[in-house]
Amino acid sequence: MTKTERTLITAALPYANGPLHIGHLAGCYLPADLYARFKRLAGEHVLFICGSDEHGVPITISADKEGVTPQVIVDRFHAMNKASFERLGISFDYYARTSSPVHRKTAQQFFLALYNGGFLVPREEPQLYDEEAKMFLPDRYVEGTCPVCSNPNARGDQCENCGTYLDQTELIDPRSKVTGSKPVIRPAKHWYFALSRFQTELEEYIESHAEDWKDNVLQAARSWLKAGLADRPITRDLSWGVPVPLEGAEGKVLYVWFDAPIGYVSATKEALAGRAGNVPAGEEDWRVWWQDNGTKWIAFLGKDNIVFHTIMFPAMLLAHNKSEKDHRYIIPANVPANEWMNLEGQKLSKSRGWTVELHEIIERYPVDVIRYAFATMLPEQKDSDFVWREFQARANNELADIFGNFANRVLTFAKRSFDNKIMGNRNELDPEGKALLDSFGEKAKEIADSYERFRLRDATAATMDLARSANKYFNDAAPWKLIKDNKDEAGKVIRSCLEALRALAVYFAPITPEASQTILATLGHSFTEETWANAHEPKLHGQTELGDGTILFPKIEDETVAGEVLRLEKMAASVASAPAAPALKPTATASANGLISIDDFKKIQLRTAKVLEAERVPKSKKLVKLQISLGQEKRQIVAGIGQKYLPEDLIGKTIVVVANLQPAKLMGHDSNGMLLAVNDENGVVALVTSAGEAAEGLEVR
Ligand code: MF3
Ligand code: ZN
Repeated sequence: MTKTERTLITAALPYANGPLHIGHLAGCYLPADLYARFKRLAGEHVLFICGSDEHGVPITISADKEGVTPQVIVDRFHAMNKASFERLGISFDYYARTSSPVHRKTAQQFFLALYNGGFLVPREEPQLYDEEAKMFLPDRYVEGTCPVCSNPNARGDQCENCGTYLDQTELIDPRSKVTGSKPVIRPAKHWYFALSRFQTELEEYIESHAEDWKDNVLQAARSWLKAGLADRPITRDLSWGVPVPLEGAEGKVLYVWFDAPIGYVSATKEALAGRAGNVPAGEEDWRVWWQDNGTKWIAFLGKDNIVFHTIMFPAMLLAHNKSEKDHRYIIPANVPANEWMNLEGQKLSKSRGWTVELHEIIERYPVDVIRYAFATMLPEQKDSDFVWREFQARANNELADIFGNFANRVLTFAKRSFDNKIMGNRNELDPEGKALLDSFGEKAKEIADSYERFRLRDATAATMDLARSANKYFNDAAPWKLIKDNKDEAGKVIRSCLEALRALAVYFAPITPEASQTILATLGHSFTEETWANAHEPKLHGQTELGDGTILFPKIEDETVAGEVLRLEKMAASVASAPAAPALKPTATASANGLISIDDFKKIQLRTAKVLEAERVPKSKKLVKLQISLGQEKRQIVAGIGQKYLPEDLIGKTIVVVANLQPAKLMGHDSNGMLLAVNDENGVVALVTSAGEAAEGLEVR
């Protein structure tokens, strides 16, 4: 194995299409920053890269809605998100934007390399076209009913309800987001990336990380590979984006998920041109960071981005390597993606007003408090729940009462009893104080190991344990008693405590950078002599005058957090008046690997039902409106079975329906449930019916 000489850390480029919220912080940016700060303290060469993803249909739709150009939207949110990250101490060495000229050129060169290597092939395939607006309808420009879960508001590229990645022509009753009209199908030419050619190589890549990647990431990647990789169109008929650099491709741009990850590379070029971060001499060349086996690339991102960083982009990089053999890109060494963070027991949702945005929370709480509390609640192995009461408890009972309290007690004691000076010298610690610092040295190795395994919650908890043990030492040594008859001994204890405080400031620095800085300044010390490995060694100079100790972590009042919950409820109530798309509870949707638990399955109520009446929905080839009986209850459902069945043949049949599906409207008709049918690629082949004599309303399991 090659020795790691440098670590390239990337965090997914957020869309510059709206404010970031706490889910982004917990899912991606805080973990990335904790790791980057830890690595720097460990003395390693780090480059930490992020930026705004400024292309894609979500942005052009926002612009259309506001009647402004996309540039106006991305300028606004690039500035806003960048400022939020800065306030939160997210220590990117560079924050780029994909609308930059360097990026455009880099993405186009990348495209051409793959094109010349034979990995991008033009094909003509049917696409949805809006005759009124005279435009094709890529991605989110079209909505319709999901063929899988009947969500009436599925988007052209993905159904948010069930997570299925869709081909837009699969949508039932598609409608244009631009004019509301029904699109027609027209052939269109696009360039397809030969993803399918990388099946085996990617399988080997993923399995080579079976031991060191997180389970949630492995499972997601494996389920995509298991489904089989299909070639994907990576161009779009849009004007906003990176233009396709080929003749005959006028009016087409690169698909946003093709250009955005290349943004990591273009951001690196820009960063190094400006000598960002602590890049040592000799490593200013971007190729050193992207095309040298001594670089270890760690890609941080949220759950919904896993497939793009474990499958799509690695395949693009491998294709580039085959196209230009002299310059070989590295692929991610690890993709430590997190799961979702919920908010007070519910899925975070901007559209339902159930969210906390970063620019709000930083107005109301100190950065270190936010960082510490979130570090204890990261959705690392599974979804987590952000609860304001817990936020308060973490801030008050841990950060303030343990770490803050230790700092306060020690500094106050030194001030009162030792002239506000550091006593003695660094070789004169009492034995227990020395033992405490030695134990820090040992524990620090374990914490480092947690960071390296991306167990950042464990690392945070173990760091707080160090502060706990420091408090215990102070209590056991009882310097306030000792000083009465042995001032010298008491002086040694306080010196040990001050050294412990200095070491704690170092260990806490990834989590609470501002407090750590304040503590070191108070001790008349700086980070220059400090590393993760030597923090436990005594270093303070005797007779140094101590600075003013301030309260490091103010406590959060009960009323304050009660107000937060109230604020949420109000906001949710005020948007609830608008009709919302049906959404399954997050726990009921399939996990990333496509598997569900028995409990998830039990949430789906399948029941037998007798068809009482059936009629065709006017002007629809597929839809049939059925009146059914579930024993006690009669209902209407609408089903897409009209090409296979005549309505009159359905009457009297005992079918199987999903009885607890959220109501939906299909072509203006209410549907309260969904019947089960066997489908192949051409649609319905057969209804699921009861073979024997079954009564209506019985459970199917
Ligand atoms: N903009 C995407 C999102 O917010 C993430 C892009 S990550 C990159 O989900 F790799 F493409 F840059
Ligand atoms: Zn769906």
